[in-house]
Amino acid sequence: MQTQPTQNYNHRKHLLLGGCDAVELAEQFGTPLICYDEAVIRANCRRYIASFVRGQNRVAYAGKAFLCLAMCQILAEEGLYLDVVSGGELYTARQAGFPMERVYFHGNNKSSAELALAIAEGVGCVVVDNTYEYEQLKLLAESSSRTIRILLRVAVGVNPATHPYVQTGHLGAKFGFGLSSTQLDAVVADALHAPRVELLGFHSHIGSQITELDAFGQAVDALFSGVQRYHTMHRWWPEELNLGGGLGVQYTPQDQGVSIEELATLLLSTAQTHMDTRGIAPRLTIEPGRSIVGPAGTTLYRVGALKHTDHGRNYVNIDGGMTDNPRVALYQAKYTCCLANRMDEPASEVYTVAGKACETGDILIWDHSLPAVQSGDLLAVHVTGAYNYSMASNYNRLPRPAVVLVKDGAAKQIIARESYSDLTRLDCLLT
Ligand code: LLP
Repeated sequence: MQTQPTQNYNHRKHLLLGGCDAVELAEQFGTPLICYDEAVIRANCRRYIASFVRGQNRVAYAGKAFLCLAMCQILAEEGLYLDVVSGGELYTARQAGFPMERVYFHGNNKSSAELALAIAEGVGCVVVDNTYEYEQLKLLAESSSRTIRILLRVAVGVNPATHPYVQTGHLGAKFGFGLSSTQLDAVVADALHAPRVELLGFHSHIGSQITELDAFGQAVDALFSGVQRYHTMHRWWPEELNLGGGLGVQYTPQDQGVSIEELATLLLSTAQTHMDTRGIAPRLTIEPGRSIVGPAGTTLYRVGALKHTDHGRNYVNIDGGMTDNPRVALYQAKYTCCLANRMDEPASEVYTVAGKACETGDILIWDHSLPAVQSGDLLAVHVTGAYNYSMASNYNRLPRPAVVLVKDGAAKQIIARESYSDLTRLDCLLT
C-alpha cells in the first residue's frame, strides 16, 4: 500500500487534512477543493526511491496523474525524474525550473512542434512510439545538429486485470511497437547506426491501476526476451530499460493493496535474474503516477439539494462531480466519502452522491452509507489525487476547482480556482 493520509478529526469533529481543519479549508478556499497532503506525496516519492533505486536506477513520476508548477518543484526536490506526454506538460516542467535532462518525453502522436520543443529544451530522453515519429525525430536531430537519446516503446503483449481502457501493453493497443515486430526490427537496426540518435533501450508500460504483481513480472520477462532478440541480431545490449508505471491504489476497502516495496522488490528481482543470466546491468527506470499522488488527494464538496425519489433513492447533490472527477463516468471507478463536518456521527442512511453536470451518468458514488446528510454539509471524497484535476473539464462551463497543498496544519494554494472570466478568456465575439 502507498502511504495514505490518516483519517482523523479534531475536537470540533471536523476532518483533518495535513493537520488542517477541512471545514476551515472549505471556508477559506471555497468548494470544490482538491487538497493534497504534501507529506503523503513526499513519503511515496521516498518509498519509491528507497525501494527501487540501486546504482543508476531511476524513478520518473508520470505527470499525467497530476502536474502543476508546485508538483514539479516537489519532484525536483525529491530527486525524481519526470515523464511528460505533451508540449503542455513539458512547458509546465520548464516553467517550474525542473531540470530538462531529467525529463522523459512520451506520447503516441507527438507533433513535430512538440518534438522540436523537446530538442530545443534538451530533454533527457524521448520515448519513441512509432516509425513515423522516429523518422521525424531523426530529421529534426540532424537539422539541429543535436544527438537525441531515445527509448523505443514496446507493447509486450501482457494484459493485466484492470479496466480495458487502461490496459496499454497488449499487441492491439495504440501504444508502441509490437515486441519483435518488423517495424521494431527496422527501427532498432537503423537507430544503432544513425549519427544523431543514441538508442538507450526500451520502454514498456502495461497499464494502470494494476494490483496483481504477476502481470508486472510477465512484462519484465517479455521485455528481456526482446532484449535477447536484439542482442542476437546486433550484438547490442541496452543501456536502459524503462518498466513503466501502473501500480494500483486502494480506492475502497475492497480494493487489493499492493505496496510500493512489494512492486519494487518484484521488478528488481525479476530483472536481476535476466541480467545475471546475460551478465548485463542496464539502468532500470520506473514511472509511477497514481501510486504517488492518488492517496494524497481528498476533494471537498458542499452539499446542496437533497432528493428522495419515489423509487427509494436518496440523492446528495454536490457542487462538483464528473467535471473535476471524470473517472466514475469513464471507468466505473469506485470511491468512498465521509461527512467532513460531522466526523463522529454514525452512518444511518444510504446515499447516492450526484454531480452537478447535466448528465444522468454524473454520479460520483452509488449507495454509500453516511450519517443523515443535510444541505450545507461538507462531503469529502477520498483518494482523488490522481487523474482527477488532470482530467478535469469545463463541461457546462463549470470552473475548475482550486488545489491546495496541506502540511503541518498550514495550507498553500497551488492552483487557483478558475473564475467566470477565465471561462470566456479565449472566446471571441463576432464583432
Ligand atoms: N508511464 C506511461 C507511459 C503511462 O502511459 C502511464 C499512464 C504511466 C506511466 C503512469 O501510470 P500509473 O502509475 O499512474 O498507473 N486516466 C486513467 C489512467 C490512465 C493512465 C495512462 N498512462 C485513470 O484515471 O485510471
